[in-house]
Amino acid sequence: MTNVRTAVIPAAGFGTRFLPISKAIPKEMLPIVDRPAIQYTIEQALDAGIDRIVLVTSRGKTPMEDYFDIAPDLEATLERRKHAKLDEVRRISRMADIVTVRQKEQRGLGHAVLCAKEAVGDNPFVVFLPDDIIVGPAPSVTRQLIDVYGRRGSVIAVQEVPMEQVSSYGVVAGEQVGEREWRLREVVEKPPRDKAPSNLAIVSQYIFSPEIFAALERITEGAIGELQLTDAIQILAKGSGVHAYKFNGTRYDCGTPLGLLQASVELALERPDMRDRVKAWLAGLNAKLGQPTG
Ligand code: UTP
Repeated sequence: MTNVRTAVIPAAGFGTRFLPISKAIPKEMLPIVDRPAIQYTIEQALDAGIDRIVLVTSRGKTPMEDYFDIAPDLEATLERRKHAKLDEVRRISRMADIVTVRQKEQRGLGHAVLCAKEAVGDNPFVVFLPDDIIVGPAPSVTRQLIDVYGRRGSVIAVQEVPMEQVSSYGVVAGEQVGEREWRLREVVEKPPRDKAPSNLAIVSQYIFSPEIFAALERITEGAIGELQLTDAIQILAKGSGVHAYKFNGTRYDCGTPLGLLQASVELALERPDMRDRVKAWLAGLNAKLGQPTG
């Protein structure tokens, strides 16, 4: 398996879809049951053999750093009380070595990735969009992508979305070269439905060779004043090439309140300590919703 050991997690955005709470709490710290959303991303990275995590942050995002740091007073107190959560708290503090880089102005996803250039160095790296949480049977999406990277080079994860939703995504067009693989010809950022080249939308994760940084340095800010990662992908696609890979797994869009709520309920159903109570609650709710109103 190819050695992809670095991850970049851009988490510097304002999270406007989560206002007002994101005014004071980073959306990445909002809970899915009792864990912050960012933990799912970091655990997926570690599970795929990644041991260097570059977190791109901005003003007000320090709770993420604190979460993965050691908390000596808390640990000492939990130890004294023989508290059941001690092991979990310790595990989180020691699970990852995180390097943070600061994006001082929110100039877009492409700019956030570029901020990680020095920290990444001359290595291939996974970009994780922490809004998207993907679950499913092994191998994880990251492992699937690392396998494709080893065979084909830079690769982006795509998912089929209903045509009426294409205008919310970067959409890809290309030549199909495998059951789940396309050689990319173009990427269209948020196309209107009638201009979309396909319904294959870019979501969640990418693996790039370090060449992407040169492409990011070439692009300019578009009409909305942001450096678009998709513009750099387009340059790479015309150069050494990029593939799109339709992954296997279920995606939750935790960048919106409804998506986060869905992820919380569905992932609670996966937890042995909660499953029965959540099922009973949902059955009761379903019965209540089925009752005629008025
Ligand atoms: P989004 O476009 O979802 O923006 O960014 P956002 O700020 O997170 O949320 P909304 O749309 O305002 O609700 C996609 C990813 O890129 C990061 C975000 O943190 C998110 O993980 N990002 C975006 C940055 O790190 N910096 C930026 O300048 C823009």
